[in-house]
Amino acid sequence: MKAAIYKKYGPPEVVSVSEIPKPVPSADEYLIRVYNSTVNRTESGFRSAEYVVSRFWSGLLKPKYQVLGCEFAGIIESKGTETYGFEVGEAVFGYNDERFGGHAEYMVVKNTDAIAKIPDGISFEMAASISEGAHYALTNIRASGIQKGQTALVYGATGAIGSAAVQLLKYFGVRVVAVVNSQNVSLIQNLGADVVIDYQKEDFTKWNEKYHLVFDAVGKSSFGVCKALLQENGVYISTELGKNGENVWRAIWGKIRGGRRILFPIPVTSKSDIEFLADRVADRSFLPVIDRIYDLDDIVEAYRYVETGQKTGNVILKIR
Ligand SMILES: NC(=O)c1ccc[n+]([C@@H]2O[C@H](COP(=O)([O-])OP(=O)(O)OC[C@H]3O[C@@H](n4cnc5c(N)ncnc54)[C@H](OP(=O)(O)O)[C@@H]3O)[C@@H](O)[C@H]2O)c1
Repeated sequence: MKAAIYKKYGPPEVVSVSEIPKPVPSADEYLIRVYNSTVNRTESGFRSAEYVVSRFWSGLLKPKYQVLGCEFAGIIESKGTETYGFEVGEAVFGYNDERFGGHAEYMVVKNTDAIAKIPDGISFEMAASISEGAHYALTNIRASGIQKGQTALVYGATGAIGSAAVQLLKYFGVRVVAVVNSQNVSLIQNLGADVVIDYQKEDFTKWNEKYHLVFDAVGKSSFGVCKALLQENGVYISTELGKNGENVWRAIWGKIRGGRRILFPIPVTSKSDIEFLADRVADRSFLPVIDRIYDLDDIVEAYRYVETGQKTGNVILKIR
């Protein structure tokens, strides 16, 4: 089968498209014929091993799993004897950032992995991009303890994580102030943001409002800059480690001190989260934003684009 593989950590060019053996599902696995996957910041992080710590999961010296692709959407081609829940021919999507595998014509997933049925009327492209940004957004929203009627500021609201966060916060009844560039003002209004601050025209730190949550979904701000925007007991969450890893050690210190503080939740993906997201897509309270679509053969280009840090929502990979 055709797959995008990488045998060493490095820039986008370490990835190439080759023929590799089709995986054989074991008793507790499904074989999925992949229609679409995505290229996202999770893949980029593991492929580049920019943060050396990622090697503890992906292999210390070289990648343990040579096919990336944490998001996938496709059809169940066959199933092991000890699988339950899905039938051959069913359209499913899911997320796996341990073994990956979506950048190939076929992949195997375990019964217990984070997979769900594709909601009616949703394309494979859209289904493939439901989970990566949204599961980070969901983890952070839940960790913040934000409640219906409270207000959140989302900085970097048009990334995969930010655009999911805006929609999920609205689903939870939160008032959302979103910070974006001029070009994306109408997009983010359409996603339901109550107030949109165009950072090319206004400084969001001068906006006269206090928030329960400041969510820096693109990791470009800092607790120091945003602290004054927080209500008493408000929380700041960033998707990046911050200068000298300050978001991690300040989160540990903040837990002891209380008051306005940083949280640094560790994202985990469960089957129930993916089912929750499938339900949100089914009731249309959340729809992933799609930016560009690349063929599998053009995966290096797709990585280069993702790594500009300027994608809007998700970049789709067309496998079939
Ligand atoms: N290490 C990992 O495993 C991992 C995994 C996932 C995510 N992350 C991190 O999480 C963050 C978000 O990921 P993502 O995929 O959601 O991001 P993304 O889609 O790459 O975010 C791109 C968006 O960020 C906005 N942006 C870029 N620079 C900005 C700036 N200086 N100020 C305000 N907005 C800016 C842009 O919006 P405008 O066009 O409106 O400027 C763009 O739409 C990234 O920092 C990423 O590295 C890390």
